[in-house]
Amino acid sequence: MDKRPVGVFDSGLGGLSTVRAMKKILPNEDIVYFGDTGRVPYGSRSNETIETYAAQDIRFLRTFSCKMIVAACGTVSTVASGIIEKIDEFATGITKPSAKAAALATKNNIIGVMGTSATVNSNAFNEEILKTNPNAKVVSVACPMLVSLVENNWIDIDDEVANATVKRYIAPLLEAGADTIILGCTHFPILSPIIQKIAGSSVTLIDTGYEEALFVKEVLEKNNLENEKEHIGTQKFFVSDKTQNFCDVANVLLGEDIEDKCEFIDIFKVI
Ligand code: DGL
Repeated sequence: MDKRPVGVFDSGLGGLSTVRAMKKILPNEDIVYFGDTGRVPYGSRSNETIETYAAQDIRFLRTFSCKMIVAACGTVSTVASGIIEKIDEFATGITKPSAKAAALATKNNIIGVMGTSATVNSNAFNEEILKTNPNAKVVSVACPMLVSLVENNWIDIDDEVANATVKRYIAPLLEAGADTIILGCTHFPILSPIIQKIAGSSVTLIDTGYEEALFVKEVLEKNNLENEKEHIGTQKFFVSDKTQNFCDVANVLLGEDIEDKCEFIDIFKVI
């Protein structure tokens, strides 16, 4: 048994898709979340900057003595995997659990990957998928504008701009015949109702937040790090720029008003 919290971070509010899944799958765990809303997006920045930001985010979370650090950001997971591997506590990103899930889910061996530009350029998903399924053909598409749609709360299933943007981005994946698509940026599961509608019901969407949460559960169980079964997990949110949108999207995603649990921190003072 271990009462310490699990630390989760993202460039903004995308990592809330991991928190949503963790609340369901790990209801006894306390979560400390950091969303770097003051510096989002990460996905169009250089690898060096992404690594610097990731290291700072991790340093902030470590002040809470977390038992596990979860990079709930596709960009950090794919570009700064070396930094995640060096963390002293247990740690994970989204790449391995979701690549494995996709590699096992595909029936025709054609897998689509949606990610940020940095994630697509890193080739990290392709490499991980091929470890589990060497016959897979991977088609990737960078979808940077989807991050802005989510950060601005344009996520309604009928939102015309969101629908048109998703349609344009996923066209090459559907043309290639992908039967499985990895939502390789944690912002994207928030748009999954729109993506599923456009891709059609025969396409399997891999929700990176969900796969990551399942992996966190596995690690905690394997290492006897779970919190007590009687404990009701709590959440605390920190952002580097307190925007109303963060709370609005959290409200939709987590089904609760998190305003009182959300605090601004000056990331430059913490580090
Ligand atoms: N949630 C981040 C990711 O998974 C968003 C991308 C960004 O900050 O550009 O990649």
